[in-house]
Amino acid sequence: MNYQLAVIPGDGIGPEIVEQALKVLDKIGQLYDHSFAYEKLLAGGCAIDAKGEPLPNETIEACKKSDAVILGAVGGYKWDTLPGHLRPEKALLGLRGELGLFANLRPAIIYDELKDACPLKPEIIGDSIDIMVVRELTGGIYFGERGRREGKMGKEAFDTETYSVGEVERIAKIAFEIAKKRNLKVTSVDKANILESSRLWREVVIEVSKEYPDVALDHLYVDNAAMQLIRNPRQFDVIVTSNMFGDILSDEASMITGSIGMLPSASLGENSFGLYEPIHGSAPDIAGQDKANPIATILSIAMLLRYSLNLEKEAQAVEEAVIKVLKEGYRTGDIMSPGKTLVGTKKMGELIVDTISKQ
Ligand code: IPM
Ligand code: MG
Repeated sequence: MNYQLAVIPGDGIGPEIVEQALKVLDKIGQLYDHSFAYEKLLAGGCAIDAKGEPLPNETIEACKKSDAVILGAVGGYKWDTLPGHLRPEKALLGLRGELGLFANLRPAIIYDELKDACPLKPEIIGDSIDIMVVRELTGGIYFGERGRREGKMGKEAFDTETYSVGEVERIAKIAFEIAKKRNLKVTSVDKANILESSRLWREVVIEVSKEYPDVALDHLYVDNAAMQLIRNPRQFDVIVTSNMFGDILSDEASMITGSIGMLPSASLGENSFGLYEPIHGSAPDIAGQDKANPIATILSIAMLLRYSLNLEKEAQAVEEAVIKVLKEGYRTGDIMSPGKTLVGTKKMGELIVDTISKQ
């Protein structure tokens, strides 16, 4: 089969990690007889520099025509002082919104090989931790009305959190469908003791849960959820939550896996089209130094193969190769521990590519 992929390397470490991910995809193409055509597109800080805006229209249009989008990371010190609508991060939100990618899947799995890199005690980690964070991605405070105005104590700023029944219904359904294929448990995270939007969230999740009698549902307030993730992460299977809470909790969950450099993500809409990116940012402090961990992006490729192209065998080949390379003791700096072999971004990519070819 021929697939057309939109590729947005972005800023900072984005280009170097995406380069490794595309090498992996090329290898999969060779071995399994697929051809992947890439269209490289600008978004983020590099688009601000080249085109004067973070998300040029031609990038959105090209993404819409593709089978799926691969994104590295956007942002950097250079653009940090620009006004909100011109910041590189605006490109991410624009893509998510314009492409209708309301469901963000962030799997946090602790690999046996990386248990050393996990900051939790062995008795808390137990045999394994495997959590799927399902984050709502096109609503809530990220997309609500915001602004500045005069207040009683001088100028004030506001951001608003809004959720509709329809928005919560569709993300809750995704969470329950995923739980059906996993361990039949959904934890909905909100702040329903305070926020009206969370009260509606909880009501709707309970309503949707009635269609899934086999899936157990519980609710946690976000502060408690943050604590439970450290206290007893094994209680979680699928976590479904709002845009902002999902942003925060997925970073926390990523540390359980050893490093934020390990966590991939898939952003999906109504059909199989999706955008795939690591959950980490552009890490400008280590950009261009061959230090970044490309695994989160490579694992995002596995998610792309699985969710957008329906190529499960190929997805597993990528995941197995990552595990094998870790088993052989190769580590980038972020997951390094004594006795292991330190490698750079490129080498890690090459090792994974070579391992795929050997399977
Ligand atoms: C993420 C990132 C983004 C977000 C930023 C870069 C806008 O933190 O994907 O988690 O907040 O969604
Ligand atoms: Mg984040």
